[in-house]
Amino acid sequence: MNHVAKETGKYSEEAHATFNELDARVEKVFSQVKEWRGWKFLHDPNTPREDIVRFIREIFRSVVMYQAHTTEAGFHMFGRLPKGDVRLIQALCGHKAEEAEHGIWAAEDHQKLGGQPQVQAKPSPATFAVAAVWWRMAMLEDPLGYLGAEYLFEELTALATAALLPLIKARDLPTDGFRFIIEHATEDAKHAVFIKHLILDVATRYPESPTAMFRCFDYFHQVYPLPVWDEAFERAIVASAR
Ligand SMILES: [Fe+2]
Ligand SMILES: [Fe+2]
Repeated sequence: MNHVAKETGKYSEEAHATFNELDARVEKVFSQVKEWRGWKFLHDPNTPREDIVRFIREIFRSVVMYQAHTTEAGFHMFGRLPKGDVRLIQALCGHKAEEAEHGIWAAEDHQKLGGQPQVQAKPSPATFAVAAVWWRMAMLEDPLGYLGAEYLFEELTALATAALLPLIKARDLPTDGFRFIIEHATEDAKHAVFIKHLILDVATRYPESPTAMFRCFDYFHQVYPLPVWDEAFERAIVASAR
């Protein structure tokens, strides 16, 4: 991957403060996730294994509903970056290209865990909202704000998937249908570090960009993750218990 970030020590104090603030916000979101009923359900030893599978399968279905749209919106958003910032555009394109097929991973896992093939499935309300926020940011926001929203995506996935690995082992869940989680646990740890360096680099070179990063973080967080994940919990567990 093409790293454009400057060497450590060359970033501004404001850039470090920006990254620290974004990182603290993701930590807070992850704390909220750990308090959420769905996370507790997954980790309750009394939860039947097949309910865990059904629940995770529905989260993968949600990923399929938004992932192509957030990817396309992302390309559109950083396609609006200052045209002279070639290395930054190259770096973001390279990262997003790696992300492009992850909706396919989610679709494959969904089916391996017993889900139906999704033939032009209409999005759920929560996944529609995710796609809508990303496209609105892509069209109207300062494109440098992309990094704030993308850090929420990458770092939260890294934290959540790494935390689920022991559960997959302890409950002997089928590794073949959990590729999305297992591979993201290592891949998104790397991606989050990559985005961190871009945040430091961009916030140093564009001192006005942090406010856009915080705005985009907040816009995206308004619709992700809990609205999406709790909707999957409703479909998989609450609705089936009625
Ligand atoms: Fe991904
Ligand atoms: Fe990633």
